[in-house]
Amino acid sequence: MQRLMNKTALITGGTSGIGKATAIDFIENGASVIITGRFQNTVDSTVSELGAKAQGIVSDAGKMQDILSLAEKVKLISPQIDILYINAGFGKYAPIELIDENHFNEQFDVIVKGTLFTVQQMIPLMKEGGSIILNTSIVTEVGMPNSAVYSAAKAAVQSFTKTFASELAPKKISVNAVSPGPIKTNYFDRSNLSADQVHAMTDAVMQQVPLARFGEAREVAKVITFLASGDASFMHGTELFVDGGFPRIK
Ligand SMILES: NC(=O)c1ccc[n+]([C@@H]2O[C@H](COP(=O)([O-])OP(=O)(O)OC[C@H]3O[C@@H](n4cnc5c(N)ncnc54)[C@H](OP(=O)(O)O)[C@@H]3O)[C@@H](O)[C@H]2O)c1
Repeated sequence: MQRLMNKTALITGGTSGIGKATAIDFIENGASVIITGRFQNTVDSTVSELGAKAQGIVSDAGKMQDILSLAEKVKLISPQIDILYINAGFGKYAPIELIDENHFNEQFDVIVKGTLFTVQQMIPLMKEGGSIILNTSIVTEVGMPNSAVYSAAKAAVQSFTKTFASELAPKKISVNAVSPGPIKTNYFDRSNLSADQVHAMTDAVMQQVPLARFGEAREVAKVITFLASGDASFMHGTELFVDGGFPRIK
């Protein structure tokens, strides 16, 4: 069933993992997609993999200059969009004693500033009846060691979901969030952790997942497609967890 027939979507951070899986699922459901990423080569190779219904824009979600010029670049491809999925992000981990200003700024620039100002800049392009989906994380629900900054940044996005939903309701734009649990992507390899630390962390996380496995990016993508589709027409300001039952209450 093609639930997104003739829709146009912008996906930030669409070159790998959940963003790329979402681009694939959107296209399979009839949409055209525009993906972003920081590097020309990965944007180009992803677009050619995705095929004729995909286009790409090189844009860094943590750089204000790139965020402010994104809408003009999108307009060159499509004057309006139906779906905005804010996905670009990465995680850095450190105990509180070792967090420095750079760690804080890197995470907040991409996740908090990037989300807020990308949504702000894209509102004029959003069609009435459009959907905005934000990416949060299961870390907002638990006190996971070494993740103070990442968790706080994602908690800000969780908060945006409700505020944006209330502000954009009069424009008939829905705003919801998807909160992934541990998902098999490049996420852990791109963190600041060593291979041994990644191993220890993923082992510890896995012990807590009742379904006893990491999720696949496409399993998150399916839920994002649902939120972007007419099937979610009465969902607004809410967050869907895709986490294999990761315990939210300790
Ligand atoms: N995997 C998990 O377990 C998990 C759990 C909860 C939440 N999340 C969140 O899910 C989102 C996607 O992560 P993933 O797991 O799919 O990891 P991933 O495979 O590393 O993908 C991250 C994507 O974000 C892009 N990106 C990173 N920084 C960017 C920036 N400054 N500007 C533009 N694009 C940027 C990357 O593109 P380039 O590198 O090509 O620029 C890539 O396309 C992130 O927000 C992450 O925090 C992941």
